[in-house]
Amino acid sequence: MGENVVSEKADAMLKGQAEIWETLFGFVESMAVKAVVELHIPDIIHSHGSPMSLFQIISKIDSPTDETDTKCLARIMRFLVRKKIFTVQTSSSGAETLYGLSRSSKWLLHDAEPSLAPMVLMQNHPWQLAPWHCLSRCVKEGGVAYEKAYGCGIWDFAAKNPEFNKIFNDAMTCTASVAMEAVMGGYGEGFGRFGSLVDVGGGNGNTMAAVARAFPHMKCVNFDLPHVIATAPVHEGVSHVGGDMFVSVPKADAILMKWVMHDWNDEDCVKILRNCREAVPEKTGKVIIVDVVLEQEGNGLFDETGFLMDLVMVAHASGGRERTELEWKIILEKAGFPRYNIIKLPALQSIIEGFQE
Ligand SMILES: C[S@@+](CC[C@H](N)C(=O)[O-])C[C@H]1O[C@@H](n2cnc3c(N)ncnc32)[C@H](O)[C@@H]1O
Repeated sequence: MGENVVSEKADAMLKGQAEIWETLFGFVESMAVKAVVELHIPDIIHSHGSPMSLFQIISKIDSPTDETDTKCLARIMRFLVRKKIFTVQTSSSGAETLYGLSRSSKWLLHDAEPSLAPMVLMQNHPWQLAPWHCLSRCVKEGGVAYEKAYGCGIWDFAAKNPEFNKIFNDAMTCTASVAMEAVMGGYGEGFGRFGSLVDVGGGNGNTMAAVARAFPHMKCVNFDLPHVIATAPVHEGVSHVGGDMFVSVPKADAILMKWVMHDWNDEDCVKILRNCREAVPEKTGKVIIVDVVLEQEGNGLFDETGFLMDLVMVAHASGGRERTELEWKIILEKAGFPRYNIIKLPALQSIIEGFQE
């Protein structure tokens, strides 16, 4: 074997080793981001209005103790600067390091819109992390990760656990605002044609609130499980209805379903879609699905996250999955929507319209 071949092999082994080190510590980045969100660091820098030194940041942290560890925060910030979550610069005196918000950490503000902070806290909560440890068992034994971790699916877990219900619904509320900005931009006028619209599995009703604001003439219904509706806030122009989409859904000109189909396997999706078909007028009624459309070779901004979300569905959903265009076509056809149209959005999700003829 030539020397070159040996060194190429050694080089490939070394690169592989480095890649696996990074991969096996993949969780570190999420945990560091979760820590700064819990400490409200992005909010502190945002309120200050310009980059801050570590000591300025620490002085604003809520309920500091005698043991508050500036050096620990320095290490977290140093790592997140490398990851481009925060920016760094030297003060004009040259004596201090100042930390600022990057385009990423602007998405980590509490009580701001748009924000993904509640989603960071929900996805990285110990309750959501436990089912991930059951992934290999899902392969070997089949079944649902959440049930293996807790003996029940995520919706029953939320119904029994008000604290988790709130954490989950807050995360859905923030992601609904983010997605709805893209939906209203890319599809908004499409809603204007309907006299009534039902959001099936609409959570807190934030999605419908955005539609009702844009189209005050429309009858807007937010439909979800009773325990979700019980804590949903009042939104002008939106009526909340509790129920089970596997039994029936309220009647309307069209049905909206955002981030619902991906929670379920194909058989369940067909059942839900058939109930939607029952609820809309024959021939003219349609279903508007807002969900990921996977593209195996896609290299768009959100394509990688689509594949991450597919595994999130293994960990958290009851047989759910993200779908390719062909997979969407198959379930829509089975449920009585033989024609479909996909509208790409500048967002993680696309719009998949299903027509009855
Ligand atoms: C992933 S969340 C999406 C929430 C919202 N559409 C959004 O995008 O923010 C799925 C929603 O489906 C609701 N859901 C689950 N099972 C349901 C059922 N059988 N009937 C009605 N809603 C259900 C959940 O309570 C939850 O609010």
